[in-house]
Amino acid sequence: MKRVFSGVQPTGNIHIGNYLGALRQFVELQEENECIYCIVDMHSITVPQDPKELRKHILDVAALYMAVGVDPKKSIIFVQSDVSGHAELSWVLTCCSYTGELSRMTQFKDKSRGKESAPTGLFTYPILMAADILLYDTDIVPVGNDQKQHIEICRDIAIRVNHKYKNTFVVPDGRFLKAGARIMALDDPTSKMSKSAENIHSRISLLDEEGKIKKSIMRSTTDSDGEIRFDLEEKPGVSNLLNIYSAFSGESVDEIVVKYAGCGYGDFKKELATITQEALVPIKKNFNEIRQSEELKNILINGAERANTIAEKTMKRVKDNFGLGF
Ligand code: AMP
Ligand code: TRP
Repeated sequence: MKRVFSGVQPTGNIHIGNYLGALRQFVELQEENECIYCIVDMHSITVPQDPKELRKHILDVAALYMAVGVDPKKSIIFVQSDVSGHAELSWVLTCCSYTGELSRMTQFKDKSRGKESAPTGLFTYPILMAADILLYDTDIVPVGNDQKQHIEICRDIAIRVNHKYKNTFVVPDGRFLKAGARIMALDDPTSKMSKSAENIHSRISLLDEEGKIKKSIMRSTTDSDGEIRFDLEEKPGVSNLLNIYSAFSGESVDEIVVKYAGCGYGDFKKELATITQEALVPIKKNFNEIRQSEELKNILINGAERANTIAEKTMKRVKDNFGLGF
């Protein structure tokens, strides 16, 4: 059995990009692996958060994990700040990484562009993420394509430590889904769909109402040539919609293109809206039940205990190999 670890930030607005790029894989993987799914609240404070909202979003994400099918009987679900090993290991790894490699992270470059100074946490974010992964002797990390660089630096740090000290870490592999791995913003198909974009019609959140889903899809940016075909360069908007259609319907992009040959964008968008609405109905229903249940917090407490048992073993090994303590 392989160990799987992944995390999602509790910053609200979990969208279909998160679902198709990451969450859906979480569910598939739990059938044949030992899975650990984390709500990475310490990552979310790299940018300012409202404390009340943050707590609400932590429970929302936990409930969403379960609503899409992550089963707490099969997988460990827990909150990052409940296991102190993440912060502890993060410091150790900070001492094994370089400002040069961190400066090359595109996410940091994007978030700090044009600013003279940026929060240190934004800069060292990939180290905390590496700690999350290495703390659990993780084999596989299912994530969206946008996290490729962060997985690479995690591997680099693990290999570096293993060379310098006794073999300390399992070197993990990323698992990136091809179809739908990168869902783009509906209003601007050249940037990825994001939780934080100002325009709510740029994304479809998993809890959006049907009317909102339809509106966002109908007004999504396409092009003026009127032909439905897949071409990321020339037709990024239509291609993104085709990806979403394919991911929710299970039909291949080629099949969908044939089906809509000669049709206008309007009909295609209408049917995509229906397919998306239908896919989200059971998720919303499950979410509302789980979010209100007393069980939710108990599941997180139990998850943190199980995670901590594994984390403590790794931290003992790290301290022994580094000569920390006595
Ligand atoms: P985040 O929203 O950054 O916390 O991301 C949570 C997970 O969703 C990560 O595995 C991301 O790679 C994935 N993800 C985020 N945005 C997208 C997107 N637009 N398309 C595909 N996957 C995404
Ligand atoms: N950085 C990831 C994101 O923004 C979230 C994350 C934090 C994560 N720690 C992780 C993902 C560990 C996988 C494994 O999407």
